[in-house]
Amino acid sequence: MKSKAIYAEKENKPIIKEVDLGSLKPNYVRVQSYYSSLNYKDALGITGKGKIFRSFPIVPGIDVSGAVIDSNFESIKEGDKVLVTGCGLGENFSGGYSQYVDIPGEYVIPIPKNLCRQKAMILGTAGFTAGLAIHRLEENGLNINSGPVLVTGASGGVGAIAINILSKLGYEVWAVTGRSQHEGFLKTLGASKVMSVNDLQLDTKPLGKAMFGAIIDNVGGELLSQLLPHINLWGSVASIGLAGGHKIKTTVMPFILRGVSLIGISSTNCPMPLRKLIWEKLAGTYMPNNLEEIRVNKIKLEDVFEYSEKLINRQLYGRTIIKFER
Ligand SMILES: NC(=O)c1ccc[n+]([C@@H]2O[C@H](COP(=O)([O-])OP(=O)(O)OC[C@H]3O[C@@H](n4cnc5c(N)ncnc54)[C@H](OP(=O)(O)O)[C@@H]3O)[C@@H](O)[C@H]2O)c1
Repeated sequence: MKSKAIYAEKENKPIIKEVDLGSLKPNYVRVQSYYSSLNYKDALGITGKGKIFRSFPIVPGIDVSGAVIDSNFESIKEGDKVLVTGCGLGENFSGGYSQYVDIPGEYVIPIPKNLCRQKAMILGTAGFTAGLAIHRLEENGLNINSGPVLVTGASGGVGAIAINILSKLGYEVWAVTGRSQHEGFLKTLGASKVMSVNDLQLDTKPLGKAMFGAIIDNVGGELLSQLLPHINLWGSVASIGLAGGHKIKTTVMPFILRGVSLIGISSTNCPMPLRKLIWEKLAGTYMPNNLEEIRVNKIKLEDVFEYSEKLINRQLYGRTIIKFER
């Protein structure tokens, strides 16, 4: 079967190409793509700014939603509405930037009630990661009396959705952004304060003024290092991203004197039972109130190259989804 796809060979820039899927392997599911999405990781791979692809040739795209058109996997049937995020899609094996995708059945999730294929991709890896982070913070004791929850990299995909979910759950949400022009957008999503890093007046001492019940951190690097001394007693940080750098510098003081937890969020290899639970929550209690208000750029497959450059150059905000012609 032929499929129009973005196709990457080692060393070469990805191109649009008709790929041949061949016959469906045992335990695989063939999906007709309705939507995919553009995440930071996708943009790193497409632009060559990060080493994301682990096998070649490969079709990029870490997310997809669509209809099953053939299945060699017992629990998934032709006609099922499904989604896949992460699990190596578009990294270890060919992914969502293709009209048709063959995916190991064990990674395929039937779309929960209350979600449609488009909403599943407005959420995509970004929404799943935001949901996973909030779930793990709550498991670690976060509640609405813990103090404000700070979201960094606020106007990006993970940040915007995290703000929306947290505010729906009743948390006081503070947003940190490098782009003050998005203050109105972030307040619409539910942030009560929108600030720059300078506005936070962070200390350089091992322990500073305790200010936050939790942090959802998409930036990493120096910002995360500076925030760790400012977390309330028994508060926690969900470390998600590295948009600002991958190295952190800290002392043990926040951990041993305030009981602070640094929680790692790895959406790609989240175990399947937890993955299904998070999707159920996203379709239920975590369903953002204003999913439509999260800025959504709807693009075509051909636009992925241009939008990847824009995303890396911080010219986009909210989410970008790819709609396939059918
Ligand atoms: N751990 C996981 O499982 C997982 C899953 C998904 C994403 N991620 C990571 O989480 C981060 C956010 O992903 P995303 O898809 O939401 O990306 P995104 O839409 O590009 O958002 C990233 C945001 O970070 C801020 N930012 C960008 N460049 C920056 C820089 N040089 N210094 C400081 N801040 C910068 C920007 O927010 P402002 O302009 O508002 O400051 C930007 O909107 C990425 O690092 C991504 O790799 C991790």
